[in-house]
Amino acid sequence: MKKFSVVIAGGGSTFTPGIVLMLLDNLGKFPIRKIKFYDNDFKRQDDIAKACEIILKENAPEIEFRATTDPEEAFTDIDFVMAHIRVGKYAMRELDEKIPLKHGVVGQETCGPGGIAYGMRSIGGILELIDYMEKYSPDAWMLNYSNPAAIVAEATRLLKPNSKILNICDMPIGIETHMAEILGLESRKEMIVKYFGLNHFGWWSSITDKEGHDLMPQIKEHVAKYGYTVKIDENQHTDASWNDTFAKAKDIFAVDPTHLPNTYLKYYLFPDYVVEHSNKEYTRANEVMDGREKFVFGECKKIAEAGTAKNSELHIDEHASYIVDLARAIAFNTQERMLLIVENKGAIRNFDETAMVEIPCIVGSNGPEPLSIGDIPRFQKGLMEQQVAVEKLVVEAWAEKSYQKLWQAITLSKTVPSATVAKEILDDLIEANKEYWPELK
Ligand code: NAD
Ligand code: G6P
Ligand code: MN
Repeated sequence: MKKFSVVIAGGGSTFTPGIVLMLLDNLGKFPIRKIKFYDNDFKRQDDIAKACEIILKENAPEIEFRATTDPEEAFTDIDFVMAHIRVGKYAMRELDEKIPLKHGVVGQETCGPGGIAYGMRSIGGILELIDYMEKYSPDAWMLNYSNPAAIVAEATRLLKPNSKILNICDMPIGIETHMAEILGLESRKEMIVKYFGLNHFGWWSSITDKEGHDLMPQIKEHVAKYGYTVKIDENQHTDASWNDTFAKAKDIFAVDPTHLPNTYLKYYLFPDYVVEHSNKEYTRANEVMDGREKFVFGECKKIAEAGTAKNSELHIDEHASYIVDLARAIAFNTQERMLLIVENKGAIRNFDETAMVEIPCIVGSNGPEPLSIGDIPRFQKGLMEQQVAVEKLVVEAWAEKSYQKLWQAITLSKTVPSATVAKEILDDLIEANKEYWPELK
């Protein structure tokens, strides 16, 4: 069987060790000959790489491993780029969350003004990775989960229309894992789902088992009472703030009980609730820095010092195995059905042809083939039209360096009460993002 060469871009990510362990766990399904890490922060990546080198030596010494900050070295002889960069790192995420909150507006990584600010930083970073890939390994595919995926996807659609990039998100998979638990199923893969929306902005319209039996009523009954809260042993999405998000799905569901919602809709449908329940001094970024980041870097340091990973508490990022599923679909033409963020092109019939939508696709060697969704209801369509306009305006603002368009984008976000507040937030964000955003005119 062919063996593949992979570069993980954002090698210094808190998710890198979990992904490496997950890749090792799946070598039978997706054989690997080479793993490289690429990051633009040498020290951060080195801390993770030293530990991962030991993990790889102890488990699969035949895999060649290298960590580098040199694009040519990183992107040469590559079949897949797995990209999870965070331009500006947690320091900027903290500001993305705290600046809007200071103005009484939702402060969130990917939603509202925070997500817009993050998008303005990510676009350049991702376009640069695509350039490297196309220069040094033009046949490679980029599997991108760098956020905000909606804005990144729109930017690549508009500015790199022929690039081999697939944008994906783990939230529907995380929620489907909870649904499987509600149903008492072994795996989410026993469900066949219909889903539509934008990234972090979507709904399930149908869920059946493999024989076609409707599973929605049983899930709905649970969600109406408890949201997506279940007792489940997970590594990701377990902090208190995530429990609140899963529980809040109950209220999102009440607004339209014909569909099952993505948890991220809470930021758009209940922004007042979110702001009220936010701590302006201590946001999710702080929780992650004090939690996941400390844990992962602490464990990596222990491994490097001990020279072995035998006693390590690092865990496989099991739920991230969808990345292997996606790589396998491309590599072995598996024709697996997966949710991806793709250009609509009529899949949702009554929606913008050029919108980047998250829908089921059949994935094979030539990329994704979106399934036909048909018409969507007025409520979802109305919300999505507003949000897709926000995302498109952000990308246009970045490309044209337009203050006006970015102001419009923030004004149009459902999380923001007025153009006045939008302008105040924008001016603070410009100041904070000087190093990262194009200079707006
Ligand atoms: P992190 O800050 O720990 O890691 C990101 C790494 O990217 C850092 O080491 C940083 O130095 C590096 N980086 C930043 N800009 C770069 C550039 N221009 N070129 C190369 N490297 C660069 O962040 P994290 O919390 O581990 O998350 C990583 C990314 O994965 C984020 O974008 C996050 O939003 C995303 N994510 C997405 C999903 C999804 O559903 N799509 C799920 C989980 C995480
Ligand atoms: C989910 C989303 C990701 C997002 C992550 C944030 O998994 O799908 O897009 O990055 O949550 O998690 P965090 O633990 O960093 O707040
Ligand atoms: Mn996501």
